[in-house]
Amino acid sequence: MAAGTAAALLAALGGILWLAARRFVGSSVQRLHQGGDSGLMRGKTVLITGANSGLGRATAAELLRLGARVIMGCRDRERAEEAAGQLRREVWPTGGPDSGPTSGGAGELVVKELDLSSLSSVRSFCQEMLQEEPRLDVLINNAGVFQCPYMKTEDGFEMQFGVNHLGHFLLTNLLLGLLKSSAPSRIVVVSSKLYKYGDINFEDLNSEQSYNKSFCYSRSKLANILFTRELARRLEGTSVTVNVLHPGIVQTNLGRHIHIPLLLRPLFNLVSWAFFKTPEEGAQTAVYLASSPEVEGVSGKYFGDCKEEELLPKAMDESVARKLWDISEVMVGILK
Ligand SMILES: NC(=O)c1ccc[n+]([C@@H]2O[C@H](COP(=O)([O-])OP(=O)(O)OC[C@H]3O[C@@H](n4cnc5c(N)ncnc54)[C@H](OP(=O)(O)O)[C@@H]3O)[C@@H](O)[C@H]2O)c1
Repeated sequence: MAAGTAAALLAALGGILWLAARRFVGSSVQRLHQGGDSGLMRGKTVLITGANSGLGRATAAELLRLGARVIMGCRDRERAEEAAGQLRREVWPTGGPDSGPTSGGAGELVVKELDLSSLSSVRSFCQEMLQEEPRLDVLINNAGVFQCPYMKTEDGFEMQFGVNHLGHFLLTNLLLGLLKSSAPSRIVVVSSKLYKYGDINFEDLNSEQSYNKSFCYSRSKLANILFTRELARRLEGTSVTVNVLHPGIVQTNLGRHIHIPLLLRPLFNLVSWAFFKTPEEGAQTAVYLASSPEVEGVSGKYFGDCKEEELLPKAMDESVARKLWDISEVMVGILK
């Protein structure tokens, strides 16, 4: 009996050590810029949607460290100002370069209100951007909703399709002129490997006939990829590039709509601590696509862990991409 208990304890200890080693030693994700490129983004303005939490927040921190002026496009001003305060303390523990008169705009952090579930909010956000910002070098379409219960946006679209695809579709289209006049400029789209389980079912884009929250998330992430590829085609010859990425599985607030029974939460937390990426690790591909000279001029590609990856044929279907673009134009009301 005593030998059995000792064996069980040893096995548990071994398991914990293995998990800890995997977490701290085995991470395959290296930070791109280890302090050596601190001026790489100086003079560049970056807009990140959903920058108050998770991947968006971590991406903002990295790009601030590289000297960018970062605009956080967030739906809740209070949450965004709180995150901005924390970011400033993290990035500049002794007071920010944006607080001094000699900063020249380097490393500045700005909060603007943007609710992607409201077309009128997207429109007024873009109006403010065009009035106040002389340039936009990088747009990072990061904000996202994951597997929420059936909900509609202010304009009557299914929430995941509405926020993850349509809100960003309108945002990007309204900011394209500014991106073009700031060229060379970049657009970075955050998708997910779960796109593989989605399809663009044109006959029920608002899921009024049936709603499956996993399918709808995957569909919205497939739409992100099709949008990227169609936009890259339309932007050929403009010096504005657009690429899409999957960040891996990352410990963020994305699972807020997923109910995990109380008793299983410690196990879930242990597993996610051991196996999921940290937000900083998950943000590396977005930071890479936004800042690295290696991807200057690269467009229409899909990346994971800072490397180009292959897509399934359904994500490369040009006729579906064009049809989705045309229908999206009608849905958001920008058809000329
Ligand atoms: N975490 C992962 O494992 C994972 C894997 C694959 C892909 N992704 C993708 O990564 C992106 C970032 O997600 P995350 O993991 O960092 O999750 P997160 O921590 O939940 O961050 C999502 C961000 O999106 C914002 N957002 C949600 N609805 C919005 C709306 N209507 N208007 C404006 N902003 C809105 C959230 O704002 P509030 O804080 O105000 O809600 C939050 O800032 C998403 O596109 C997600 O699909 C994540």
